[in-house]
Amino acid sequence: MRIAVAGGTGTVGRHAVEAARAAGHEAVVLSRGSGVDVLTGAGLAGALAGADAVIDVTSIMTLSEKKARRFFETGTRNLLAAEQEAGVGHHVALSIVGIDGIDTAYYAAKLAQERAVAAGSVPFTIVRAAQFHEFAGQVLSQIGGPFAVAPRTLMRPVAAREVGAHLVRVVEDGPVGRAQDIVGPRDETLADVTRRQLAFDGIRRRVLDVKLPGAYGTGLASGALRGGPDARQGEITFDEWLRSDDHRVA
Ligand SMILES: NC(=O)c1ccc[n+]([C@@H]2O[C@H](COP(=O)([O-])OP(=O)(O)OC[C@H]3O[C@@H](n4cnc5c(N)ncnc54)[C@H](OP(=O)(O)O)[C@@H]3O)[C@@H](O)[C@H]2O)c1
Repeated sequence: MRIAVAGGTGTVGRHAVEAARAAGHEAVVLSRGSGVDVLTGAGLAGALAGADAVIDVTSIMTLSEKKARRFFETGTRNLLAAEQEAGVGHHVALSIVGIDGIDTAYYAAKLAQERAVAAGSVPFTIVRAAQFHEFAGQVLSQIGGPFAVAPRTLMRPVAAREVGAHLVRVVEDGPVGRAQDIVGPRDETLADVTRRQLAFDGIRRRVLDVKLPGAYGTGLASGALRGGPDARQGEITFDEWLRSDDHRVA
């Protein structure tokens, strides 16, 4: 199959591209670096020519609901329109486990993205994943200095590598609307994995475990993000991931 991966240079996107190629598919990377912008639509038509399926793993780093909504709603609309034009038969969107009751900030935008995908005319599958093992590093990179703020979060983190492979299996299975969620093997808190990562990397920063205010903070701390018993479980633990090449390149 010819699989276009929007966000194919990102944390999970690069693993989806690798998994697709390893399974014998042709993978096309869509990112601004390769001249494709899902927000403006630039380059989409050419990049999707001949594609059988699109995996959308684009993202924006923001807690602003307005910015995130603009990104995910506009990006999804542009992708779906170009897919319809190109005759793409399957749109796969990656969302986040357990966000139904946390309809605010970034998560509200992900729910809006799910609705836009479901309302579109391209056959689709929505896959929800837990926070990646790479998530602590993404949060750490937001603010420098001697302190690191870890919003109080109960989660079941999963290796982006395992999510990338799951996305390719979902493409191969064809459109089903909603795929099995994927989570990691163990319950963790964001503060604890952040401390372990800093210690492993030999970086001295004090981690502050801060319960964020409002519905967002309550949702993060509630345990909802750990998903339910029906989720597929990845095998790579956070500590195994820390010692792996994936952490060295993350
Ligand atoms: N991170 C997590 O823990 C986690 C957990 C569950 C689900 N998810 C979901 O997984 C998806 C991917 O997250 P991630 O952490 O892998 O993201 P990421 O590492 O930030 O990568 C984002 C990707 O999107 C591309 N991109 C950004 N703006 C673009 C634009 N306007 N046009 C085209 N490409 C654009 C980036 O490439 P360029 O900058 O070169 O354009 C990059 O390849 C998101 O939908 C996220 O909600 C993430």
